[in-house]
Amino acid sequence: ERFDVMVVGSCMTDLVSQAPRLPKAGETIHGHKFFIGFGGKGANQCIQAARLGAKTAMVCKVGKDFFGDNYIQNFKDYGVNTDFVGQASDAATGAASIIVNDAGENAIVIVAGANMLLGSEELHKALPAISHAKVLVCQLEISPQTSLQALRMAQENKVKTIFNPAPAIPDLDTDFYRASDVFCCNESEAELLTGSPVSNVEEAHRAGQELLKRGCGSVIITLGPQGCVVAQGSASIHVQTTSVKSVDTTGAGDSFIGALAFYMAHYPTMPLEEMACRANQVAGVSVQTVGTQTSYPLKKHLPAELF
Ligand code: RIB
Ligand code: NA
Repeated sequence: ERFDVMVVGSCMTDLVSQAPRLPKAGETIHGHKFFIGFGGKGANQCIQAARLGAKTAMVCKVGKDFFGDNYIQNFKDYGVNTDFVGQASDAATGAASIIVNDAGENAIVIVAGANMLLGSEELHKALPAISHAKVLVCQLEISPQTSLQALRMAQENKVKTIFNPAPAIPDLDTDFYRASDVFCCNESEAELLTGSPVSNVEEAHRAGQELLKRGCGSVIITLGPQGCVVAQGSASIHVQTTSVKSVDTTGAGDSFIGALAFYMAHYPTMPLEEMACRANQVAGVSVQTVGTQTSYPLKKHLPAELF
């Protein structure tokens, strides 16, 4: 069995409150809606790739609890292979407390729980599958050593790697760059990693060149409504996107990365800026509905020219 996209990453139960604005420290405010959803950057990316038609497998760890059992069922419902989904008896399924304001912005606290117990043992079990996958995707909601080990396993087997350094850590091991064919982050992550402001396209071009120097194959910096910047070799291209009315931007970056992984697996010779342009359109659909995975478009709901 050969997977198009494998994700070694996180699963979180999202506890989402919609409120007019984000509360300040020590403040209590009234929200108007609460819901529980399936989230976690790793799983979100995997689900978006699956929704576009990629054959996917998830390598992750949830708890032996109600949320963990439900999560495994969620993967099955979307056709994601769960052979490498483990259940820890000594830690709870990861949880994310999310507040979304009326502008569609969010603030998130994650408690990784069982995600942190994913390690070498599980990776070794998944190695035969990883070594035959087309694309491997990692983030930073599991132990960083596990992410790095997974990226290296993939690279040693000539599997294309996408690394999403989210949530970002300031002193990221430079080995992560060398293990990434595509290093894809948003503006705030690029800021943290480079130590320079990234608030416009010009600054994103500069940050992209700086990150590229650290050893990755190419860099994509996503800029929300401003699209993204794709840096490769000496070229740096601004890819624009059509503006949409956003209701909830939670997980939009994950929708972008899941879509990118799908395009890399299905259209390996397509220019990266074209893949990014299409991934922007997929993510643009996701922000128009509340929630993360439930807002990710299916192939059949997207314009045919995206495929
Ligand atoms: O990127 C969005 C995701 O970040 C949410 O689903 C939440 O679980 C956090 O991990
Ligand atoms: Na959404």
